Amino acid sequence: MTIEQTVTVDTDPRAGRDWLGLRDRVAVVTGAGSGIGAAIAMEFAACGAHVVALDVHVAGAVEVADRAAGLGVETLGVGADITDPDAVNAAAQQALERFGRIDVLVNNAGIMLPGELAAIDLADWQRVFDVNVTGYLLCARAFGADMRARGSGSIVHIASISASNPQSSSGAYSPSKAAVSMLSQTLAVEWGPAGVRSNVLSPGMTRTPLTESFYTQPGVTERRSAVVPIGRVGTPQDLANAAMWLAGDRAGYVTGQDIQVDGGFCRTLMNHVPRPGYEAAPTAD
Ligand SMILES: NC(=O)c1ccc[n+]([C@@H]2O[C@H](COP(=O)([O-])OP(=O)(O)OC[C@H]3O[C@@H](n4cnc5c(N)ncnc54)[C@H](O)[C@@H]3O)[C@@H](O)[C@H]2O)c1
Repeated sequence: MTIEQTVTVDTDPRAGRDWLGLRDRVAVVTGAGSGIGAAIAMEFAACGAHVVALDVHVAGAVEVADRAAGLGVETLGVGADITDPDAVNAAAQQALERFGRIDVLVNNAGIMLPGELAAIDLADWQRVFDVNVTGYLLCARAFGADMRARGSGSIVHIASISASNPQSSSGAYSPSKAAVSMLSQTLAVEWGPAGVRSNVLSPGMTRTPLTESFYTQPGVTERRSAVVPIGRVGTPQDLANAAMWLAGDRAGYVTGQDIQVDGGFCRTLMNHVPRPGYEAAPTAD
C-alpha cells in the first residue's frame, strides 16, 4: 500500500517563506484598509502572493495595495461595500480581469455597534448582520465562483472569540459572529466537493483601530494582558500569521474549523472559580 503525498507546496527547505506555497497565488482580503485586514494583505505580499485589497474606504484599500506592491507583487486596491451585491460582483469581475484567477478569500471586513438586546435599535441590529454575515456570504459567492469552477481555493473568515462567548452590551456582534462560524462550516460541507476549503480564525483581544479607544484608557492594556495566558494583547500580525497557514496548501486537509487566536484567553474559565487549595501560588517578583 502506498501513502499518497497530497501536499503540493514546495518542500525544498531553500524555498524560505514559500514553505506555505503562496507565491503567485491571488488573495482577496476584505476590510484590507485597516487593522487585521491590512496586516493580512501585507503578509500575503510578503509571502509572494498577489493581493486584491478591498475596503469600503477606497483610499485605505489603495494605500495598502500600494504598500503591498512595494514588496514586489501585483496588487489591486478596490473600493466596495460588501453589503452591496452589485459592488461585490463588480469587484470580483475587476479582480478576475486583472489576475485571471482567485485562489484565496479572506472575509475580514466587520463592524461592531454597542447596544443592550432589550433596547437595541433594529436598524443597528440589521446593519451588523448585513456587514458581518450577509457581506461574508456575498463575498464568498462572488470570489468563490472562480475557485469552485477551477476546483481549488481557500476561504478564511475572520469571526471572533465572541462567536462562542457572549459579548454583552455589543448588540448583534456576538450573534453575528456565531452566524459566521456556521456559515463557514456550511460552506466547508457544500463546497468541499468542489475543492474549496472554508475555515474561521477567531481573534481574541487585538489592538486595532476598531478597538483602539479601549487601549487609550489608562491601565486597560495592562489589565487585559493580565487575563491572557500568553501575557499580552494580540496584534494584527498574530492573525496574519495564522491566516497564511489556513490560506495555503499546508492546511489542505483542514476545513470547517475555527482557530482561536487569543493567547489562550478562552481557556481561562476555571480561573474564575474559587478552588481553595488549588489556586496558583503567587509568583515571586
Ligand atoms: N480588533 C479586535 O479585537 C477583534 C476581535 C475579534 C474579531 N475582530 C474582527 O476582525 C475583523 C477586522 O477587525 P479590525 O479590528 O481590523 O477592524 P478595523 O475597524 O480596524 O478594520 C475593519 C475594516 O473593514 C472595513 N469595512 C467595514 N465595513 C465594511 C463594508 N461594509 N464593506 C467593506 N469594508 C468594510 C473598514 O473600512 C475597515 O477598514 C472584523 O471582522 C472584526 O469583527 C476584531
